[in-house]
Amino acid sequence: VNIILLGPPGAGKGTQARRLVEERGLVQLSTGDMLREARSSGTEMGKVVAEVMDKGQLVTDEIVVGLIREKLEGSDAKGFIFDGFPRTLAQADALGALLGGLGQQVDGVIEMQVDDAALVRRITGRFTCGNCGEVYHDETKPTAKDGVCDVCGSTDLRRRADDNEESLKTRLLEYYKKTSPLIGYYYAKGNLHPVNGLAEVEAVAADMGRVLDGLT
Ligand code: AP5
Ligand code: ZN
Repeated sequence: VNIILLGPPGAGKGTQARRLVEERGLVQLSTGDMLREARSSGTEMGKVVAEVMDKGQLVTDEIVVGLIREKLEGSDAKGFIFDGFPRTLAQADALGALLGGLGQQVDGVIEMQVDDAALVRRITGRFTCGNCGEVYHDETKPTAKDGVCDVCGSTDLRRRADDNEESLKTRLLEYYKKTSPLIGYYYAKGNLHPVNGLAEVEAVAADMGRVLDGLT
C-alpha cells in the first residue's frame, strides 16, 4: 500500500512513519529528510534550498517532485509512506501521475489533526539523532542517558535550524495556505482518514494501524 501522512509541522508524521517502517515493512519517503541530506552534502541544490528551509518556506515543487521521482523509479518496495509530501496541489497531481505510471496509486491519506498550541510545544522541544534519525522531545521523550541516543548510542543529537518559533510561524502559514487544501482534494477522492494526533504516540499508532488494516 501507498499512504500519505498529512499534517502540520510537529503533528508526528516522522515519529509515526518510523514505526510503520518497522512494523509494516513500508519504505519512508520524507522530502524533509531528503532536503536536509542534500544540504548537508553541500550539493548545488542543497545550497539553494537551505535558505528557504530555514525561513520555513516551501521549496519549489520542481525540486521536491524530482527527488520523489528518483526514489520511486529506483525502488522495488512493496509500499511507501509519504511523510511531508505532497504539500501542494501540484505535488499531489504529480504524485498521482508518478504512481499511475508504475501501475500504483495512493491507497490512503492519514490526516493527523493537532492544534497549534501543541505544535509549538512539540517543535521547540524536539531533537533527533543525527546517526539513526530517532526523534526525541525534551519533555515527552527524553533520552534515557543524557546526550546519548537510546537506539544507536550515538552522541550526535541535533536540533533543526528551522525549529524555532519564528520559522515555525511561517511553516504553519505555509501549511494552512498551500497544504491544507489537500484535505479537500483527498476527501473528494474518498481517500481521507483523520486521526487524533493529540493522543499519545502509542494511541495514535493504534489508530493508524486500524486505518491501514482497513486498506489492505
Ligand atoms: P519537514 O522535515 O517535512 O518538516 P515538517 O512538515 O515541518 O514536519 P516536522 O518534521 O517538523 O514534524 P513531524 O510531523 O514529522 O513531527 P515529529 O514526528 O518530528 O520539512 C521541513 C522543511 O523542508 C519545510 O519547511 C520545507 O522548507 C521543506 N520541505 C519538505 N518537504 C517539502 C515539500 N514536499 N514541498 C516543499 N518543501 C518541502 O514530532 C515532533 C515532536 O513531537 C517530536 O519531538 C516528537 O517526539 C513529539 N511527538 C510526536 N508525536 C507525539 C505525540 N503523539 N505526543 C507527544 N509528542 C509527540
Ligand atoms: Zn540514534
